[in-house]
Amino acid sequence: MSAPTTDRAGPKPPDPTLVFEAWNEAARGYREYWSPRFRPFVERAVAAFDPPAEGPLAVPGCGPGDEVVLLAQKFPARAILASDPSSEMVGLCRAAARAAGASSVLVTQSPAEGLAGSVRQAAGVFSSFTLQLLADPLRALGAWSLALRRGGAITVIFWPRPGPDTSFGRVQAAIERATGQSRPDWEPKVAAELPHLGLEIERDERVALDVEHASPEEWFQAAVEWGALRPVFLRWGPAVLERCRVDWLSDHRMIERGGKWIVPSEARLWTLRKTGEGPHEAH
Ligand SMILES: C[S@@+](CC[C@H](N)C(=O)[O-])C[C@H]1O[C@@H](n2cnc3c(N)ncnc32)[C@H](O)[C@@H]1O
Repeated sequence: MSAPTTDRAGPKPPDPTLVFEAWNEAARGYREYWSPRFRPFVERAVAAFDPPAEGPLAVPGCGPGDEVVLLAQKFPARAILASDPSSEMVGLCRAAARAAGASSVLVTQSPAEGLAGSVRQAAGVFSSFTLQLLADPLRALGAWSLALRRGGAITVIFWPRPGPDTSFGRVQAAIERATGQSRPDWEPKVAAELPHLGLEIERDERVALDVEHASPEEWFQAAVEWGALRPVFLRWGPAVLERCRVDWLSDHRMIERGGKWIVPSEARLWTLRKTGEGPHEAH
């Protein structure tokens, strides 16, 4: 096992500009490669989203906008305020909404943590596959709660901390070995803090589905070029990512089935209701 590498970046906090640039680079490939594979998860989350009848719906971290179009179909003529800090993702989301004829959708370029600066008294906040990428998920949920009116709903689907014997867990372990950086175990703390944000958990479920790829090599390349490993790549550089790749390929835990390679994938789905006052509103 090689020692943690500090050659390119060293231990430093994630730079938001680099993260947004990574998603600019990833945007088109993400839409082509990952969006169709994640769609069944997003459909489950959209089905679970149950906001009250009055008020706008906010979609932070909207990416290329699959969920925005699904929400516009589920809630026709309802104001939908989608946002993403990546200008490329914003462009793709606007194009998707236009192509779907979803004229009640407004897309702006901004991060999830700043939602309450532009949205208040919303009926709902919907987020798919963004929460686990944020530097401070609790802060983002606080902003989403502040953007909501009493009785409003949050539906958030995200990738939880993976088990050590899963494909995702093996990737995390390879990254940790190569960089010395691990994914913080924020979920228990955040779940415990939700009541202090005025949020009650209505549902906390796992959505388990198989996701298909041509090969483990393709999976890794797609993650680096167009997915969640793009920010890791920009931060740590190609040599470190190559070490992760070789390490992961030696024990990737993908399953071969009928000439395809499967990643059994488990997302976490929370539906939250704003039943109380968030701490920000007390003053
Ligand atoms: C995995 S994609 C998910 C996109 C889309 N919601 C979906 O389900 O397909 C993650 C998205 O989070 C965005 N993102 C990254 N940092 C963010 C932040 N601080 N606030 C909001 N979105 C962020 C990226 O630009 C990217 O569009």
